[in-house]
Amino acid sequence: MKKKVVQQRWKQKVFGLILVVVLCFGSLLFMQMRYTHVLGLVSLQHQFVSQSQVQIPKIAFLFIARNRLPLEMVWDAFFRGGNNNFSILVHPRPGFVLNEATTRSSYFLNRQVNNSIQVDWGEASMIEAERILLRHALGDPLNDRFVFLSDSCIPLYNFSYTYDYIMSTPTSFVDSFADTKGGRYNPKMDPVIPVYNWRKGSQWAVLTRKHAKVVVEDETVFPMFQKYCKKKPLPRILEGSSHSR
Ligand SMILES: *[C@@H]1O[C@H](CO)[C@@H](O)[C@H](O)[C@H]1NC(C)=O
Ligand SMILES: *[C@@H]1O[C@H](CO)[C@@H](O)[C@H](O)[C@H]1NC(C)=O
Ligand SMILES: *[C@@H]1O[C@H](CO)[C@@H](O)[C@H](O)[C@H]1NC(C)=O
Repeated sequence: MKKKVVQQRWKQKVFGLILVVVLCFGSLLFMQMRYTHVLGLVSLQHQFVSQSQVQIPKIAFLFIARNRLPLEMVWDAFFRGGNNNFSILVHPRPGFVLNEATTRSSYFLNRQVNNSIQVDWGEASMIEAERILLRHALGDPLNDRFVFLSDSCIPLYNFSYTYDYIMSTPTSFVDSFADTKGGRYNPKMDPVIPVYNWRKGSQWAVLTRKHAKVVVEDETVFPMFQKYCKKKPLPRILEGSSHSR
């Protein structure tokens, strides 16, 4: 009888011990799992942070210039506050070389496109120059906004303010209004560009990457402009003298 009781107590002890070991092992396993999970989260966060650090979207500043950029030092001061969150491209007249002799700002060195064209005011060549700039700028996947500038533009705000303003919205900034004055719209553009779709706007716009691609890939609207948007010839003053004949 006594022997049986002892055996039972012994069995209870062994059982208890096994239970404790199982519990310990279980919680150890549980802790390990949580730890791995937490570790995973932490490394994921690290990955995310380092990735986003590398991939800060940039603003491409696209200059259409004749020769030198007369206000380059104003831009130089502006870009110094830019933490490299920008890229610069210049479309000068063909033959002009932007080098140490023609610019005092290192930001503009080696930034000219290699296939610039002759640009004439009021002609489709102005749009083509913008398309050339966009094609080059789209080559950098970090360029996220595309700003067109002339050689007489200056920044009115500092870089961070400008950057935040442009990036604060997912949309482009374009000027667009119904051009009520006759004469600009050429009815020959119909039906590709019907008159009810005709708008006027400044060429100095800010485009998102999506819209920049649309402009570059467009094969419908641009050929119409090339064909039908011509600068009106200047008044023929000399013809006025025909009465003297
Ligand atoms: C012009 O520039 C583009 C883009 O940077 C480059 O791919 C191309 O090879 C260049 N062409 C010449 C003729 O240098
Ligand atoms: C940039 O300009 C804004 C608005 O004028 C100003 O609040 C901010 O302090 C300026 N930032 C720097 C870095 O100068
Ligand atoms: C530009 O990039 C740096 C990191 O390189 C970042 O700290 C800064 O906030 C970014 N933004 C602007 C407007 O410069």
